Amino acid sequence: MNESANYDESLVGNLPLPELLICADGTRVNDSTHWISQRRSEILSLFESQLYGKAPSTKLAISRQVVSTDTSALNGLATRQEIHIYVGDDKNGTRVDLQLYTPKKTAHPVPLFLGCNFNGNHAVDPDPKIPINHRWMRNTVDEKSVVNHYATESSRGSESSRWPLETIIRKGFAVATFYYGDVEPDHADGWKSGIRGELLNLGGSKDFEPDSWGAVAAWAWGLSRALDYLATDPAIDSERVAVIGHSRLGKAALWAGAMDTRFAMVISNNSGAGGISLARRHFGESISDLNENFPHWFCGNYKSYNNCPEKLPVDMHQLAALIAPRPLYIASAEEDLWADPRGEFLAGKYAEQVYTLFGKAGLGVSEWPSVNNPVGEFIGYHIRSGKHDVTTYDWHQFIQFATKHFRKS
Ligand code: GCU
Repeated sequence: MNESANYDESLVGNLPLPELLICADGTRVNDSTHWISQRRSEILSLFESQLYGKAPSTKLAISRQVVSTDTSALNGLATRQEIHIYVGDDKNGTRVDLQLYTPKKTAHPVPLFLGCNFNGNHAVDPDPKIPINHRWMRNTVDEKSVVNHYATESSRGSESSRWPLETIIRKGFAVATFYYGDVEPDHADGWKSGIRGELLNLGGSKDFEPDSWGAVAAWAWGLSRALDYLATDPAIDSERVAVIGHSRLGKAALWAGAMDTRFAMVISNNSGAGGISLARRHFGESISDLNENFPHWFCGNYKSYNNCPEKLPVDMHQLAALIAPRPLYIASAEEDLWADPRGEFLAGKYAEQVYTLFGKAGLGVSEWPSVNNPVGEFIGYHIRSGKHDVTTYDWHQFIQFATKHFRKS
């Protein structure tokens, strides 16, 4: 949280939002066919060229190798596998280490939650058999888990409160996760040792174009590569995969879900600015805060909207609408003012029009719900008490939402 930001609701302004259902040629969208054939792709390409940036279209050879299988993970509840996903033929290039937990007692194929983690697979689960991730990492506040940007033994399990694995497995879901820094380390020069740098070299160009992808789009790309693998595993139902992410990784999950419609559900946890909260509300983090503090996250063009969100040709209700008619869950936290919880809710609210085109109910409420009172049909929403984080309370709502929508008819 930044003390100099605005946190006063009376000062948010009232900039009009870009039209969701009016196409660039002025025609109005009245049905889902028109939405899909014209308006959806217009909006998607604006998000691509002005905000997240375009991933290269180069077709890459991807190879994968299951490097370990433990059939007694999580106190015998799950099989844990580690899968190395390589990009291109070069085994020294980008490698994503996917950690997959599949429940043993549930009939396969099972639905799955897929999300990136912040500190390595070994931080999600304290099991000492999991290799420590040795790639560059942001230092942590405790000064022990990550020292000089590298994880230490004491970081085992440090992120486990955000991944209640046993609870998820007991509910009949598989879970897959990888460290986002496997795709690109999260700092301004991280692209040099990540997939964006590797592909620049392959493509022969020397610099990024103003609409070339930023790191968030690269992490989203990694989520799709993980889904490619999951679709080959007969124990997983690849038509029931929910992509989930917290905060910056919530931004990545949203973009992955918008770009890759194989994701059957999208869950945004406290994704905030550059994620689901409306950019035109002057509240909490702004576009210029994002671009100043994280110049590598978005494409070059996004920097031209610093201090003038009204010029951005899209806003985040349109990102939410790109998920339709698939179920979308938006989670906010009461003390997470930097992420603008009300702006997160309103993006879902204004996206409802598109769910309506598909005959699906959205949030089902007109007012911002009270704290710890989940709502919603095809757009789920809650604001939980407490801080910016992913908690067991959040997961309970995600599991319930996914159980409802993934139930086999
Ligand atoms: C910072 C950043 C947010 C981001 C968050 C996180 O607070 O300003 O945009 O969501 O980090 O990823 O934890």
